[in-house]
This record gives sequence, structure tokens and C-alpha cells, in this order.
Amino acid sequence: MMKRMIGLLLAAALMLSAAALAEGIDYLALVNKQHQLPEGWEDSLEIVEVTNSVDQKVEVEKKTYEAYLALAEELEREDGIHIELDSGRRSVAEQQEIRDNFMVKYGEEYTRKTVAVPGYSEHQTGLAIDLYFITADGTTVYYNEDLTKEEYYGVWDKIHEKLAKNGFILRYLKGKEGVTDYDYEPWHLRYIDDPELAREIMEKSLTLEEYLGEAAALPAYVYPFAGENPVMAAAAEYLVTADLGCEPEEGGVLIPAPIVLKEETGETEATLWGNFWVFAYKLNGSILECTAGGENPGVMKLEKKDGKWQVVSLELAEDGADFDAGIRAFANGDAELEKAYYLSSGADEGYLPQYRRSFIVEYVNANKLDGVAYQDNGWEPVDITM
Ligand code: DAL
Ligand code: ZN
Repeated sequence: MMKRMIGLLLAAALMLSAAALAEGIDYLALVNKQHQLPEGWEDSLEIVEVTNSVDQKVEVEKKTYEAYLALAEELEREDGIHIELDSGRRSVAEQQEIRDNFMVKYGEEYTRKTVAVPGYSEHQTGLAIDLYFITADGTTVYYNEDLTKEEYYGVWDKIHEKLAKNGFILRYLKGKEGVTDYDYEPWHLRYIDDPELAREIMEKSLTLEEYLGEAAALPAYVYPFAGENPVMAAAAEYLVTADLGCEPEEGGVLIPAPIVLKEETGETEATLWGNFWVFAYKLNGSILECTAGGENPGVMKLEKKDGKWQVVSLELAEDGADFDAGIRAFANGDAELEKAYYLSSGADEGYLPQYRRSFIVEYVNANKLDGVAYQDNGWEPVDITM
């Protein structure tokens, strides 16, 4: 009976873009909170549209759908489990609608851990599917809160056992919430078109990020307003590339927080008096965890050569007893500047928190990260969404 129904579904499947070339699809493409849908993705996508048991239309990439049918047939035949497609390829508008509904129904915190921001959902690839199931007594188990009930753990185990051989992996694993920044989702499968590789990934309990070596990889820091402030762009670039004793960990990033206290900029020369803080971060979920950082109070000199500003020197105040003498020398009799140097030097008070925050916010926005906080070792995360 079920076999016939699946056959009918396949027959009813509508080829939406039959002319497109399936060969163009990268079945290992990574779409997550840091990586948007690759450009031109839709061009080579062949989509089928099916109707599920609750009369919803679901679109899925063609090979993904064929693999789903094989999985469904095997589960039906060998385990008496009847799975259905809740969701497949989603448009940005659909993703937004789901997010809005979740916000109302479950609140912000749960939504952030379960529904991607439009543009960052793997569902846009057409290679991700969400399952629900119908039990032997005919009960449709559909909503997240029901699908995650303990009584269904065994059903999911049986389903998960058959994923790899059909080319699927489980995408949001229990215990890997820190990597994916999503809660465990037993229903969300990702088709990777390679059963051998899927087996390896599933056996090792890897996320796609970990397999691709992309876990917590952060984009390099680039000053986002170079057009308006080329001197600052050159200073920031110097700070994240010069050897100032602050190194990011593997996959981490350096984000500067220069506090410029005084600036003299001419046609081809510039001098900045300030405290050129630099911090290293790594990503843990959507928290930028600070792994190192330090201040660099001093005087930076820049020159414009061939139309491009570059740092030619950074003279720093010595640590310890010589610190005061250094600051006095930089201020050169300017009492206000001397005072400002001290206000730029404290890590938790004075000028630093606001500068640091604004450089992080700009970085997060420029790279379209879903970052919500940064955190120093032993401190509470600092929210950057407000
Ligand atoms: N539920 C997954 C994370 C999504 O919304 O794409
Ligand atoms: Zn999903």
C-alpha cells in the first residue's frame, strides 16, 4: 500500500526546471550562520514538487528527493516506519515567515537556536529536508515538541541508521550545538550524494562544518569604511597583521579596537596618538570568545604612497615603570591628551568597552555573521544586538 503511494508521489512529482543541469550542484556546499547560499546556486538546481500527507506542497532537489523516496521505502518495509516530508527547499520569504511564526509561538531564544535567518538556511539549497512521521495507529507526529518526545527516540534511531546508505547525514547533532549553533534536530537531513562519505561523517559524528574544516572559521578583519576613512583603514590593517604579540587561534580572527585620542592628517602624512588595542576571538556558537588581547598605547605615523596610506611606524610606551614616562613623552605637555591616554588604558572602564564593541559590531555586520555577543574568559557574554 505504501509502496504504491510513494510511486504515485513520484509520478506526480513536477519537474520545475528540467533544463537545468544537476551536475552543477555542489552537494557538499556549506550553508550556515556564517555562509550564505553560493552565488548562482539556483541556476543548476533541478527541483521536484510533491504534496505531503497534510496537503502541503514541498519542493526538493531532484536527487535528494529520489534518495528520500528510497529511504522512505526502506523504513516502511524494514521497520514499519512511515516518514513524510515536512519541509524541503524554502525561499527567503518562506524562511522569514517561519521565523516570524516561531518568534510568536516560541520566543526569540528558541527561534535563534532552531530557525535560520533568511539567506542563511540550508533549506534554500533544496538539499535539506525535514521529516515528520505517522505512527502505526495513524497519529501524525509533526510539531517540534512532539517529534522530540522521549517515546520517539527509538523511531529516530531507526531512521538515522538508514541515512548514510541513502546519501544523507544528520545535520544538527546532539552535543555539537556549539559548532552548528542550532539545537539538536533529529528531523533535519542533508543530502550529500555520497553514501561512503555520509557513512564516514555519521560514524564519526561530525557536523558538515567539522568535516569541511570550517568549524568556527571566521573571515579576516577588514575595516569596513575604508572609503570614508582611508587612514583608519590603513591603521586597522596594520594592527591585525603586525606582530603585536596577539595571535588568533586556528580559525579565529583579530579585531582591532584602536582608540584614537588625537589625529593630525595632512596630504601625505598622518600621525595618530592613541591606544591601539587588538583582540583575538574564536567563534563558539554565535559568541565571539576572546582568546587574547592587549593594549598598545603609542604614536602611529602613516604616509600616503602611490595613493595608498600605510603605517610607517608605531612607537609604543614601555610596560611597567616606564609606562608613565612614555605617556608623558607622547602627550608632550598636553595635559588633556595625557589624561585621555590613561582613560584609554583600562580594560573594563574608560574608553575601551565602547570602542571595542563598535569595532565588533561593524565586523559582525560587514560579514553578515549571526554574532550576538562577545565574551572574555571568566566574564559574562556582552550582548551586541542592543
Ligand atoms: N532549522 C534550520 C536550522 C533552518 O531553519 O534552516
Ligand atoms: Zn530543517
